[in-house]
Amino acid sequence: MKLWKGRFSKAATSSADEFNASIEFDQRLYKEDITGSIAHARMLGKQGIITLEESQLIIKTLQEILADIEAGKVKFTIESEDIHMNIETILTERIGATGKKLHTARSRNDQIAVDIRLYLKKETAAIDKLLKELLDALEKLAEEHVDTVMPGYTHLQRAQPVTLAYHLLAYYQMFSRDRERFADCLKRIDRLPLGSGALAGTTYNTDRDFLADELGFASVLPNGMDAVADRDFAVEFINCCAVTMMHLSRFCEELILWSSVEFSFVEIDDSFSTGSSIMPQKKNPDMAELIRGKTGRVYGDLMNLLTICKGLPLAYNKDLQEDKIPVFDAADTLKASVGIFTEMILTMKVKEDNMEHAAKYGYMNATDAADYLVSKGIPFRDCHEIIGKIVLYCINKGIAIEEMTMDEFKSFSSEFGEDIYDKIAIRSCISAKKSKGSTSFESVKAQLEEIKANK
Ligand code: ARG
Repeated sequence: MKLWKGRFSKAATSSADEFNASIEFDQRLYKEDITGSIAHARMLGKQGIITLEESQLIIKTLQEILADIEAGKVKFTIESEDIHMNIETILTERIGATGKKLHTARSRNDQIAVDIRLYLKKETAAIDKLLKELLDALEKLAEEHVDTVMPGYTHLQRAQPVTLAYHLLAYYQMFSRDRERFADCLKRIDRLPLGSGALAGTTYNTDRDFLADELGFASVLPNGMDAVADRDFAVEFINCCAVTMMHLSRFCEELILWSSVEFSFVEIDDSFSTGSSIMPQKKNPDMAELIRGKTGRVYGDLMNLLTICKGLPLAYNKDLQEDKIPVFDAADTLKASVGIFTEMILTMKVKEDNMEHAAKYGYMNATDAADYLVSKGIPFRDCHEIIGKIVLYCINKGIAIEEMTMDEFKSFSSEFGEDIYDKIAIRSCISAKKSKGSTSFESVKAQLEEIKANK
């Protein structure tokens, strides 16, 4: 039934009805919608806008409708357009005229705004839990690999030796900031739009503070026009999803590389890999690739909502109905991606020996060799030049720096002594780092302790 049919002399065509309806995708807000309606009915009763008996009957019936929806007994219709009018129609079918009073002092504009905010509060909590599990997994893996040496890269070229724990804790920091970002975004989601009416407020003696308490919102939005018109909190939410996906995607890119024969640093578990329909030998890191691919989708969701909002005159416009599609998609995609990713890293096999072997080649101790000469009093720029020549010499000879004889070292600088061999051994290069937040074994242990202390 069309709840707004009074002013019309002609019905919409069925194709227009279908085009206009959002029930296909907004039905997942049924719980938030009923929760908001129950609070609204309670407020109307308390304020004497409807009688207490009417309020109680509406609340009881809405609870029954909720149970029926959850039991799969309710059929939504395109004719009733969206989740709000579907539920109101069912309510009125069940209790007649009393049901028709629920929409007093309310508009679908403040109703949908409160529904999305309730939904995003729930989703933010679910995402926080998943991110917490991911952080726990990273902490566990880092603890297991404080001693695992691997090449650190810049430009994807071997740069300086690091530990795997150090590398993993870099991601720990990124995902911790993602959690912070969601927590901060939540502050702006957690404000009540309900009670704003269509745009200008209502003529009834409503109590918006009571609604905020009932629904668990931290505060009431101070301007009704803003409350129904803006979706900045949803843009921010998708942005938080997009940044988290970006971090996941970088990590996935590394796992894809690391699981190639060329790197052979990790082996993703069979349960998170797939085969090829033609090449029998293939084991593909599809989950990691899909997370990387889905990152593009979430970026698209962000652009989608920003673009929906950019040209809208105040206040509500039907364009805003489209907001739910990117919001739902970003939340669903992120949750699925974080969940799979955590399981995937907890089950993958780390090939420590291959990592350490790779760390030995590629002249990654060149900076440490230069630092050695600095300690002998040679200015850093000169040391850089001397070691550069040594590296070129070693490349031509096909040896590592530490494979040079003492005579060879001396031919580049008389400052070299026997202790150079110890100073440029891979583990010494790592231990020698002194700055706060470095890859040294000691620093990484301190980083882990700080993580534990701040949990
Ligand atoms: N289905 C609509 C939406 O999702 C609800 C609000 C409709 N308001 C209106 N004035 N047509 O945005």
